[in-house]
Amino acid sequence: MLHHICKLFVVALALGATVSAQNSATSLVSRRITEYLLPAATETHEFARVPNSNFVLLSQMSDSELIKIELDPKTEEPVAFHSFPMGKNSSSQLHGVWPSTVYPGMMWLSLQADNQLLLVDPGKNLTTPPTILQTIDIPAPGNGPHCVFEIGNRVWAGLKVASKQTGGYYVFSVDITDSSDQKLYECLASPVFIKEDPTTRLIYVTQDTDSSIMRIDTTTGETTQLPIPPSVGNNAVGMISADGPLSGVWFTLAGNKTGGTGTFGHIGSDGKMEFFSLKHPMLGANAGLLHIADASTVAGGPALWLLSTSLLSDNSPDALIRVTFDAGITSVSGEEYISMPTQNAKVHRVLPLDSTVLVSELHTFTLAQLSYNNTVAGQWLPAESVSNATYTQPG
Ligand SMILES: *[C@@H]1O[C@H](CO)[C@@H](O)[C@H](O)[C@H]1NC(C)=O
Ligand SMILES: *[C@@H]1O[C@H](CO)[C@@H](O)[C@H](O)[C@H]1NC(C)=O
Ligand SMILES: *[C@@H]1O[C@H](CO)[C@@H](O)[C@H](O)[C@H]1NC(C)=O
Ligand SMILES: *[C@@H]1O[C@H](CO)[C@@H](O)[C@H](O)[C@H]1NC(C)=O
Ligand SMILES: *[C@@H]1O[C@H](CO)[C@@H](O)[C@H](O)[C@H]1NC(C)=O
Repeated sequence: MLHHICKLFVVALALGATVSAQNSATSLVSRRITEYLLPAATETHEFARVPNSNFVLLSQMSDSELIKIELDPKTEEPVAFHSFPMGKNSSSQLHGVWPSTVYPGMMWLSLQADNQLLLVDPGKNLTTPPTILQTIDIPAPGNGPHCVFEIGNRVWAGLKVASKQTGGYYVFSVDITDSSDQKLYECLASPVFIKEDPTTRLIYVTQDTDSSIMRIDTTTGETTQLPIPPSVGNNAVGMISADGPLSGVWFTLAGNKTGGTGTFGHIGSDGKMEFFSLKHPMLGANAGLLHIADASTVAGGPALWLLSTSLLSDNSPDALIRVTFDAGITSVSGEEYISMPTQNAKVHRVLPLDSTVLVSELHTFTLAQLSYNNTVAGQWLPAESVSNATYTQPG
């Protein structure tokens, strides 16, 4: 039997050779995800590229280690890493990682348990330890800086841990050049992402467990809560600020223990929340959307990367999804689904590089990289491009 199959295979190969000898060969379009194993730790969290360098900095919160990862300058493939302990000790909970624009090449970090923000020089080469340039202590009653961002001339952090003094939660902001100019805005549980609407300059903050978005008018200091309607989903986490046709802030809903709803939202200059939903019955309907990134290209138009995670529910897949929109950005028009090779990896963040896309896997201490060959993101053909009919025969 095996011999027979082998013989058939040889015949097929011979035919194939004949065919390709007659026609000019066509390069195969491919996409792949490669997983890169990092030091074993229970929580692989945030990561960001050091601008104009081949380094990515990634935080492992459970042991407070900063992993410096070197990328191949041509292919963007991770090639080597070195890790550095950050904070007082291994319980300092290194979490946030964000590039500074005010200080080009420098990076902001947060130490959640030490209640501090750091500005560091990551160092010229892989083994150079990061140098701490500035330490900012979070003032009471603030507690537990999680994600850190630089917006204009200020550094912002969501204080994820309940205050020791008041039991409340706060968003912190400080002027980069005048560290005496500090502000705490009281918010709901718990602040995660902080972004600015490019048109109105209003600040928006996702709050995960209380499932609401806070708007901050920094000129008046006034704050407003925009609760997520439970009918569309819950747990607002990931948020980005986008320009051009996508102008405004975009945020994702991560769902709860029973799963996600495949829903994400937008707030434009009119301040109104609009919601969008994924359609795919297998990977989209239960998607717990934790994070988001801009996937727009000049050739392909406006698009977003969405990251569905199993972090909150086993019913949600670990998947990377690229969505495109109709001309008016009123509904989703195209969805490319890329199932992550390791399910239950509890994927955490998505970061597009120049030609590839990185995804961190919180539970499996892995950095995954999506790359395309002989095509670009946005060109992968879904089954629906040839037929909406399903072949239902068993054989
Ligand atoms: C990409 O495609 C080119 C041309 O078809 C091929 O030579 C190359 O091996 C491919 N690379 C990978 C990583 O698949
Ligand atoms: C780290 O330091 C804190 C406070 O200084 C202490 O409570 C904690 O036990 C230390 N953790 C380790 C692992 O040494
Ligand atoms: C590391 O960087 C320094 C300059 O900052 C350079 O002199 C040195 O050769 C580099 N070392 C390696 C191993 O590349
Ligand atoms: C989980 O979310 C779904 C969808 O929004 C909702 O119907 C359900 O009540 C929520 N469950 C809990 C325990 O909050
Ligand atoms: C299948 O359905 C989609 C969405 O309704 C539509 O855009 C597409 O053109 C259809 N494909 C075919 C081959 O009919």
